[in-house]
Amino acid sequence: MYLSKDEERMLVGEFGYAMQKAMEILIALGKIYDAEKLIPITSAHISGVSYANVGEDGLEFLEELASDGKVLVKTTLNPAGMDLDRWSLMGIDREFAENQLRVIDVYRKMGVEVTCTCTPYLVNNMPKLGDHVAWSESSAVVYANSVIGARTNRESGMSALAAAITGRTPLYGLHIKDNRQPTVEVRVPQPDGEFGFACLGMVIGRLVGDGIPFIKGMFHAEPDELKALGAALASVGGVPMFHIEGITPEAKEYADRSMEKLVVTEADIMSIKKEYTSEADPDLIFLGCPHLSLIELKKIASVLIGKKVRKKLWLCCSKHVKLEADKLGITRALEAAGATIVCDTCPIVAPVRDLGISVVATNSAKGAWYSRNLNNFSVKLLSTEECLREATE
Ligand code: F3S
Repeated sequence: MYLSKDEERMLVGEFGYAMQKAMEILIALGKIYDAEKLIPITSAHISGVSYANVGEDGLEFLEELASDGKVLVKTTLNPAGMDLDRWSLMGIDREFAENQLRVIDVYRKMGVEVTCTCTPYLVNNMPKLGDHVAWSESSAVVYANSVIGARTNRESGMSALAAAITGRTPLYGLHIKDNRQPTVEVRVPQPDGEFGFACLGMVIGRLVGDGIPFIKGMFHAEPDELKALGAALASVGGVPMFHIEGITPEAKEYADRSMEKLVVTEADIMSIKKEYTSEADPDLIFLGCPHLSLIELKKIASVLIGKKVRKKLWLCCSKHVKLEADKLGITRALEAAGATIVCDTCPIVAPVRDLGISVVATNSAKGAWYSRNLNNFSVKLLSTEECLREATE
């Protein structure tokens, strides 16, 4: 792998311990994928922030890097294991909270923006078309590649941090234009709202695995709908990007390409919901996987006005979006109805089983999939309206 003179100096430690370690990580990765060289990036996004994932060994390594390491590009952080300010309201115990705050402090020391959200593109980490970035968090990766047209591989938290410290990433995978071509055409009916898009994502994710679908048949899609689609595609399948004819920025380049063709029907989309029909009463209803946008919070508030929430209802969003909602009086309206706005985290990365939760309801296909397969919860997958009805009846 070609290294510039500066990169060679980084590798032998002339720019300090963190830079040297970060270069070692990137070069090892580059060798695995046969990368010809490193390329500059404009931003990074780091996952694996919950203390439950990092643990003491991971924290020790991060502390070593932070002894002299600083990020060179704009770098944001994925959700942590708790709301960083209101963790006691969530029922998180003090020991976990203290450890989680140690993890956050280490990232802060390295110059990482403590955004703690899986929607960095909603909190000012918005690359431009064609920018090379190094993002982890599968739902953010698929959004960056598909909707924004930036270029990133599915990084791990550690490789994204190494890229942030060096300002570089190995040139392979989706950084190369040829690898962004669709692998299979999927004709679909127009899905209905965010929930329809989420269920469609689950169907296509199963069909294409880690391929790149070229989706035909849609005539409109809102950013929040694409967010729901991508999250499901990337979790159920390993899809790193998708194209939608007439909608996503790179789709026009592949309009005439011949490829395998698949068809998804309305019945396929509806069948997803039937897979998640827990009979038990949910201990927790959560919306915001991926984290809610301001538009989504507004829509929820308009449904909840004048109603009383009778079950635990979490609305997960970034602190940035909550601040916007505070200014518009949306937070007040939601809290008056009895909903809890949870920032910086979500029920998948927070230790919610310790809070006595074992049955959840959500409108998120990704949230349902992880709740069942990772957390072992009973799950009800419902539309947003049905979730809110479940919470208020
Ligand atoms: Fe985000 Fe948690 Fe879902 S990190 S995408 S809300 S699993």
